[in-house]
Parts: sequence; structure tokens; C-alpha cells
Amino acid sequence: MSLYFCRNFITHINKKLKIMSKVTVVGAGNVGATCANVLAFNEVADEVVMLDVKEGVSEGKAMDMMQTAQLLGFDTTIVGCTNDYEKTANSDVIVITSGIPRKPGMTREELIGVNAGIVKTVAENALKYSPNAILVVISNPMDTMTYLALKSLGLPKNRVIGMGGALDSSRFKYFLSQALGCNANEVEGMVIGGHGDTTMIPLARLATYKGQPVSTLLSEEKLNEVVASTMVGGATLTKLLGTSAWYAPGAAGAYVVESIIHNQKKMIPCSVLLEGEYGESDLCIGVPVILGKNGIEKIVALELTADEKEKFAASAKAVHGTNAALKEVGAL
Ligand code: LAC
Repeated sequence: MSLYFCRNFITHINKKLKIMSKVTVVGAGNVGATCANVLAFNEVADEVVMLDVKEGVSEGKAMDMMQTAQLLGFDTTIVGCTNDYEKTANSDVIVITSGIPRKPGMTREELIGVNAGIVKTVAENALKYSPNAILVVISNPMDTMTYLALKSLGLPKNRVIGMGGALDSSRFKYFLSQALGCNANEVEGMVIGGHGDTTMIPLARLATYKGQPVSTLLSEEKLNEVVASTMVGGATLTKLLGTSAWYAPGAAGAYVVESIIHNQKKMIPCSVLLEGEYGESDLCIGVPVILGKNGIEKIVALELTADEKEKFAASAKAVHGTNAALKEVGAL
């Protein structure tokens, strides 16, 4: 009896002492809602706030999710709000998913005119109430929106992270697992470069299955197919769905947030500001980083081959080109 009492008392004290963690997801569309749902289901944070401009949508989705808490057994509180940034106050991480998604046949880059203004406003508003938050950007064109958030808010570079590489790497591992006929969790692989159909670089040379280089397990032709499928992974889904994908993009956002909130120090390819690393500067582009409580703890310098370096330089050039449009649309 007394042991039972003691255990309950300790649990009670722990809950009282526990430092609360809070994540805000701006945009409660498909990607934002999926991200919030995964964050809650995995109990990444104590509280997840979803904010949207559409009256009632985030409140409705939050209530719907909260009604799964007992069924799924999670303790995270999900709160929805219509454009009320005060409710997002003191968030540790802010995920930005706002803006329009692409339609079939569109590139991510074509969204810049509409999304730049939205992302900038949203980031400024959210930062007012959570001045110490780390930003995770999902909105497209993702590398350029990450750069815009970083430049317009003047935040230190460790606090602004674009999630594209996490998503593209997960798609790469999926296509590798399909080709190998194996479990995707047993495959290692990374995609670096821009988050664009022609700019991403799946690093086939470094991909492994249980420690074995995939290049020894798959023919060159098959491996090229996997790389090609990965690069158009988002476009393939957009064509099938009539709009941009959301399960993997939302989950990739939550995966990035988890490494930050739980200080996991995972190595995840993300879009970050380069200042000479990989021979590039003044842009955000996908490279492997260590993510922990300070956001970007470290940029990992991979030894690239001459061919990979060439592809990276071309990718950076394309991202610079898209960034230049920020000035044209008056966002920077
Ligand atoms: C995709 C979008 C979210 O790749 O960029 O599905």
C-alpha cells in the first residue's frame, strides 16, 4: 500500500516539475494537421497548438484529434486557434506549413509569389510571441522560404531549419526498400541539395542496407531508377492526389521537431544556411546536420566525389536563382 502511494506521489511530483514543451504548427491544412497529429501521437511535446486563418478549421481538427487520445493512448494536448497568435506564446518550436500547395504540373518554385508574403507574415507574428523559438519551415519552395524566414527575421542560423531533406531521404529509403524487397527501416540513405524535382541529390553511393552498399546489391540501372523516382517523388504524388502530398511531409516535419525537442542529436539532411560549407554561401540548401535542443548543433561535412560536388554546385545555383525572385516579389 505505502509503495503504491509512494509511486503515485513521485509520478505526481514529476508531472508538476516537468518542464512543459510546446510546439506550434502554423497552417492546419493537410500537411500541418498531419504534422500536429504525428507530434501528438508520438507525444513529442506536452502541447501542440495548430493555428490557421480559416475560421474553425484548426479548432475542429484539434478537437477531432483530441477525441483519438483515449483510443490511441497519448497525453499530448492539442489546441486549435483561428489566427490567435497569443495562444502560440512560448513555443519551443514553430512549424510553418502555411501557403498554397502545388497542383499537378506545377513546380514548387512556381509557388513563390503567393507563399513568400504568407510565410514572412506568419513567421513574424509567431516570433513575436515566442522570441526564442526554433523555426521549422515546410512551405514551398522550401529552401527559398527557409532563406526568407532567416533573412527577414534576422534569427541566428541555428534556429531556422527547412525540413525538405528529411522528407526526400525518407522517400529515397522507401524506393530503395521497394527495389531491394526489404524493410525501409533497415535502409540508410540521404538526399542532399535543393528540395526540387531537378535539384535534389539522392546519395546512392552512400546508401546501405544493413551495412552493405546498395550499389553492390542493385544493378546500376535499378539504382538510377530509384534515384529518378525519389527526385520526382513529390510530383508523382501530386499527380495522383490532385494536390501536394501530406502524410510523409507532415511526418518529416514532426521527425525534425522530435530531434530538436528531445535533443536527440539525429543526423538529418535539412535546409540550412551555408557560409562556406560545401563551397557555398548565402543560401539555405539541404545538407546533413545534427539536430538537438539548439536547433542546428552542427553541419556535417561529407566528403563528396567530383560528380556529387558538381551536382551540388548546380543545385545551389538553381536555389540561388529561386531566391533572387524574393526581391522581384518584394519579399526581401
Ligand atoms: C512534397 C512537397 C510537400 O515534396 O514538397 O511532397
